[in-house]
Amino acid sequence: MIRSFFIYLSKAGWARKFITGWGFAWNLASRFVAGEKLTDAIQVIRMLNAKGINATLDHLGEHTDSLAASQAAAKDIIEALDAIQKSGIRSNVSIKLTQIGLKIDHKACAENLRAILAHARELGNFIRIDMEEAAVTQVTLDLLMQMRQEGFENVGIVIQSYLYRSESDVQNLDSKGITVRLCKGAYKEPAEVAYPKKQDVDASFDRIAALLMKGSIALGAPAISADGRIPPIPCIATHDLQRIQNAKETAAKLGLPKDALEFQMLYGIRRDLQEQLAADGYYVRVYVPYGTEWYPYNMRRLAERPANVWFIFSNFFRR
Ligand code: FDA
Repeated sequence: MIRSFFIYLSKAGWARKFITGWGFAWNLASRFVAGEKLTDAIQVIRMLNAKGINATLDHLGEHTDSLAASQAAAKDIIEALDAIQKSGIRSNVSIKLTQIGLKIDHKACAENLRAILAHARELGNFIRIDMEEAAVTQVTLDLLMQMRQEGFENVGIVIQSYLYRSESDVQNLDSKGITVRLCKGAYKEPAEVAYPKKQDVDASFDRIAALLMKGSIALGAPAISADGRIPPIPCIATHDLQRIQNAKETAAKLGLPKDALEFQMLYGIRRDLQEQLAADGYYVRVYVPYGTEWYPYNMRRLAERPANVWFIFSNFFRR
């Protein structure tokens, strides 16, 4: 119930206005967000890189509601790619299609995406398309395939294990050698499209992780690039110890080399685990968001873990 409430808040305009106007809110947001400026995020990534951890940079923003704003978002993403290049950090970029106009104009969104991918390709970098709510899953996959058909190989996708359709989506993608970030899914979806029970989401996660690894082996287990920017095919994005352990065991059983597998986690969550995995010789990538549009992203982080809510209140009353 708490989860549904925070997912509702993430979309409610009134709550956004109220909560972001609350000075204390940024203190909380900063646990999960590198900062409001690109330079803040670059600095965070430098520190991660120094610990042997790669990154994916996300300029926060979603559900852009005008063409001008979607073009501005695409421009910001292109600037972020340039900043990565200039600073030499080991990072690629994650984007959301609703940030660059998916909900306004499909064609304009495709144009923005094409411009981002072309620029990333010039720089030898990679773009991961985040997966949003189930209402846009098909159109997101369609745009990915359109870009692949246009010759862009520097683009990958996210698959959510809570959706019933995901196993067959992965079977489709696997045969094309597309890199997949596998996560559980952060939105509130109805039982018609998503497993309502956690144990089913977890079991689906383990099955899809194994599918991705087998698919990778069938294609010769492509490794992460030397500069850390182009990921391997299976990217296991979770902080769930059991899922990570199962993925490690499956990889070992299948003989998947460590450089053909990547673990991904969110900035500010389980830093100890991120560092431990990297110290054990696994490739780890941390998702580093920055920008002023942190409200919906943070509400989803609160929805994932009710304990974060108590953390907020205890800090509030301690002030
Ligand atoms: P689970 O929720 O079972 O948590 C396991 C443990 O992790 C918890 O017990 C706790 O210790 C810790 N934990 C998890 N969430 C926490 C939080 N918010 N605060 C503190 N501790 C927490 N989703 C999506 O729909 N589309 C996407 O594109 C992405 N992209 C993405 C990228 C990366 C790199 C990651 C790691 C995750 C995503 N997600 C996502 C989010 C994902 O779907 C999921 O909501 C979160 O990862 C939380 O689920 P876990 O797999 O960690 O498991």
